[in-house]
Amino acid sequence: MKIANIVGARPQFIKFFPISEAIKKYAANSDNVVSEILIHTGQHYDYNMSKVFFDEFSIKTPDYHLGVGSGSHGEQTGQIIQKVEDVLMKVRPDVVMVYGDTNSTLSGALAATKIHIPVAHVESGLRSFNKKMPEEINRILTDRVSTLLFCPSKAAIKNLRNESFNNVLNNGDFISRDYFFYNADSADAEIDNPLVINTGDVMYDAFLFSVNIANRRSRIIEQLQLEDKDYNLLTLHRAENTDNLEKLKEIIDFVNEISMDRNLIFPMHPRTKKVYGSSRIKFADNIKIIMPLGYFDNLMILQKSALVMTDSGGIQKEAYWLKVPCITLRNETEWVETLQSGWNVLYKNYSGSHKPLVNDVSYYGDGEAAVRIVSALIKTIKQ
Ligand code: UD1
Repeated sequence: MKIANIVGARPQFIKFFPISEAIKKYAANSDNVVSEILIHTGQHYDYNMSKVFFDEFSIKTPDYHLGVGSGSHGEQTGQIIQKVEDVLMKVRPDVVMVYGDTNSTLSGALAATKIHIPVAHVESGLRSFNKKMPEEINRILTDRVSTLLFCPSKAAIKNLRNESFNNVLNNGDFISRDYFFYNADSADAEIDNPLVINTGDVMYDAFLFSVNIANRRSRIIEQLQLEDKDYNLLTLHRAENTDNLEKLKEIIDFVNEISMDRNLIFPMHPRTKKVYGSSRIKFADNIKIIMPLGYFDNLMILQKSALVMTDSGGIQKEAYWLKVPCITLRNETEWVETLQSGWNVLYKNYSGSHKPLVNDVSYYGDGEAAVRIVSALIKTIKQ
């Protein structure tokens, strides 16, 4: 089986890593010939937005680098579709894997499905119910054209059911690790009858793999001369926040107020840098703006922070797993379980403290989502 993977933006390199490891493991222990092809759209291209993750996770050099780069939605999406199609026509994989909710995700899914190559969507079913977010459009449309929909959570399953996806494996319950071993002929996945599976979250796989490495290797705390639990952390990059100056001001005012008594560290995303640099809105003086961080340094700086404020999806969950109180700088979140846990709160609802905290609930699987995903590919996609 030939599995083509399309990545392009920062969080996708992290999501791809456990899948790639699971493919290699499967290939080594099976008579089936399984190969992985890696296609990098080039949506992200700075060292610390792309290559650093390849280095940290020892991800192979992409087989195809499309060099698309930045641009308007139409330009970026259009170029990716065109270039991915060329590659797929040449490679003819059995399945195309797309990750998350970026323009690379949607473009890859459209290119593949139009030439009748089944699409498998990792991190399927998430919804913010806010169509002003480019990510929400990307998710809805990618799910619509996917043949295999891999959900990280129960909430994601529920969202897909509400959109009339009714071929849901195991009644939407988290499948066991060897589900396909015991239920070998359990299901076929076809474009006209897409299959929805609750596999758990590949980000949890990546997190569990990385947290000890981060503790051993990262020097970021020393480099920035930080003290344990003595600073707040900020990440802010969503287009809905950065590209609307009124909204940006509201958020920066909020962040300044919360961080009045503590230093604030802000690894600034290039999108935010562009807007912030040319605006008159300013952070208070106790902020330290740094370059975007690699995955291990990011986990470390998050782990040692007293509080994190973020509009990233991944960081909301990582904060939950690391037991760091989180304030989400958005009006809604797709990761609703983190709100239920009490470790996360939307900034509009923040009243100076977090509500009682719930510990040790496995909302997102057991850290072996990738193994389930790869077995599902092998067992349900017709070759
Ligand atoms: C994209 C995703 C978003 C994801 C984020 C992770 C979409 C619609 N959005 O947003 O869901 O959370 O990636 O980072 O796909 N830039 C650089 N260097 C780079 C990449 C970008 O300087 O390596 C700058 C460019 O000025 C560019 C801007 O950042 O125009 C935005 O980049 P883009 O890839 O369009 O979207 P992100 O904001 O990164």
